[in-house]
Amino acid sequence: MTIDTKTSVRLTIDDTSVKAASGETVLSAARRAGIDIPALCHEEGMAAWGACRLCLIEVEGLDKLQAACTTQVADGLVVRTNTARTRAKRASYLRMYLSDHNSYCEAPCKDACPAHIDIPAYIKQIEDGDFAAAAATVRKEMPFPGILGRICPRYCEPVCRRGEVDEPIAICALHRAAGDHAPAALVSAHPSGHRVAVIGAGPAGLSCAWYLTAAGHEVTIYDKAEKPGGMLRYTIPEFRLPESDLDAELQPLWDAGVRFVENVALGVDINPYGLLQAGFDAVFVGVGAWQTMPSRIPGHEAMLDALRLLRDVGEGKKPTLSGTVAVLGDGAVAFDAARAAVRQGAQSVVLVSRHPADDVEAGQRELAAARAEGVQIEALTEAKRVKLRKGGKPTALECVRLEADASGKLVEAKGSRFELKVDVVISALSFAPDLGEGDDELTLSAWNTLEANHYTGRTKSEGVFAAGDAVTGAKSAIHALAGGKRAALSIDAWLRGVDLPELEAKLALYAGLPYLEQLADAPQLGELGQRLAERSPVWLKMGIAADRAARATMPTLAAAKRTTSFEEVERGLKKKAAQAEATRCLQCTCPSLGECDLQRLGVEYEITSNELVRPSSRVRSITPRYEHPFIRRDMNRCISCGRCVRVCRDVAGPACYDFRGRGFLMEVDTPYGESLQLAKCITCGRCVSSCP
Ligand code: SF4
Ligand code: SF4
Ligand code: SF4
Ligand code: FES
Repeated sequence: MTIDTKTSVRLTIDDTSVKAASGETVLSAARRAGIDIPALCHEEGMAAWGACRLCLIEVEGLDKLQAACTTQVADGLVVRTNTARTRAKRASYLRMYLSDHNSYCEAPCKDACPAHIDIPAYIKQIEDGDFAAAAATVRKEMPFPGILGRICPRYCEPVCRRGEVDEPIAICALHRAAGDHAPAALVSAHPSGHRVAVIGAGPAGLSCAWYLTAAGHEVTIYDKAEKPGGMLRYTIPEFRLPESDLDAELQPLWDAGVRFVENVALGVDINPYGLLQAGFDAVFVGVGAWQTMPSRIPGHEAMLDALRLLRDVGEGKKPTLSGTVAVLGDGAVAFDAARAAVRQGAQSVVLVSRHPADDVEAGQRELAAARAEGVQIEALTEAKRVKLRKGGKPTALECVRLEADASGKLVEAKGSRFELKVDVVISALSFAPDLGEGDDELTLSAWNTLEANHYTGRTKSEGVFAAGDAVTGAKSAIHALAGGKRAALSIDAWLRGVDLPELEAKLALYAGLPYLEQLADAPQLGELGQRLAERSPVWLKMGIAADRAARATMPTLAAAKRTTSFEEVERGLKKKAAQAEATRCLQCTCPSLGECDLQRLGVEYEITSNELVRPSSRVRSITPRYEHPFIRRDMNRCISCGRCVRVCRDVAGPACYDFRGRGFLMEVDTPYGESLQLAKCITCGRCVSSCP
């Protein structure tokens, strides 16, 4: 735009002197000067509408805020676009729009799942009755929907938006249903000619083998045990994960040609360097964390090792326990040991955790199951000493209560020392990898874990990758599976010549970007980079339109049988129940993610809490219309800015849209509610591109 100096004016916007054509609006002059004023209803080249009120500015000499899109420039005008007052007003309008916005930018459940499974997608497939497609969707990111459906701590569920209406979706039970009601399958790509060795047949190794096989590589898994599964088989008891279900989900690996070599231990029989020498193109190390780290408290020598106990139980040795059993720790191993102790004859079982009960490491699923079986939880408690009777058997556990100090650190509460009468103490506090004699090729951290790149699992030894508990220390199976998958994707890329150090540097940089920049820059990472990237979404607070409906109840083994048998406790959802549960999902995804001004402004104005959003508030709920081949009309996302109405009428011509109703009930539709085709749509797409 050129400005005629005879008719031009000079105004000041945010302390910058700006030349503008008389008759021009402040919004247009500001934009030309590179000053951003938010505007949702304004369409460049069209008459101002002034409806959204996002462009409000302060004009010197005027009390009221003015809309920049309707305020004309004038000589000497002094304007402020970004003051506490304008920001507060814009935030209040954004809160209003978002409170009636029946949609969501992206799914928090998917973000919270360590494997980033496309949860809304598989839930939709279950709703449609296509369990095989649902299982395939889960397997794109996590190979064992049935196994994890039985044992995962469910990181996805506490953040599920459905929880704001009634209860979170039974996400975990649903992917178990997908695994249970559809045959397991692994489709491998055309053979690549590369051979990869996987050391460790636990969750990390199995997951790595799965995705390497899918990419067409020939995989051999080595493990120190007789059968594959690692912790899944040898420490998770039957009552949580029956061996037959484990075997059924692993079967596709063997069907696809993966070799399993048993009784071969890292650092004893094999090492990565030797395997590379033997002709493997890459080696993955995922040996888990099988060593219980000794407790240092007095009397620790009388403690039983939780992993040993669970292994004995798994091997059918049926160790007998009696009296009161105390389990130290609150991870999955501790809870499994406590629940196994109940079944092995303990009169009472108490689990001693340093954390509050609602924050135990194993998650609320295990806490609830253990409590249902009579396990008593001593939360925020630390064991200080095992008192021993003559002969070295425990007689009592001396404990203290913990409380948070001013900095939030847990410290001993004064005068809180107390004793628990116990007969057996089981240690499940901390675990480290068992690396045999050690390996010069692998570097260890101060915690005795393997050092490997966080994103790719690449170690300092060329061609050697590592992930899972051996790298992170003891975490849940889903973390190990996710790590194994990331390593497999990286090994595949490395074998294809991708520069992993460069990718790792990019990913580290990306992780530090603010959310909106992450959304904008994601395509530059490429497909692999996006799957390995760490993101930090900002969760806006929006209204939800949904009728209350109870969450599916997981059928469980009869109470009387639970404490006396090792039969599976959770029995799984039948198809019909799973489909009904799937209908409760709010499908928190949006095709406009990252390209939407409303989302951008919501993030910029930090609308992450919103007093206008209440469970009882009315939120629009309008069936989307997809009759046009390219134009999806979803009025649940409409903010009634009127841009499509005006652009179709004033620029394109056919005037396909108009407003219907008033106030909160207002919506945009074709003049008689007819299809766009009947409204003489010319398919120019202007309405779509003008929608903010
Ligand atoms: S991206 Fe935009 S339209 Fe989609 S849900 Fe978020 S705010 Fe709404
Ligand atoms: S694997 Fe765990 S965190 Fe991921 S979707 Fe399943 S239950 Fe949720
Ligand atoms: S409602 Fe559905 S998509 Fe939304 S967070 Fe919950 S499970 Fe995920
Ligand atoms: S009111 Fe000015 S852009 Fe909407």
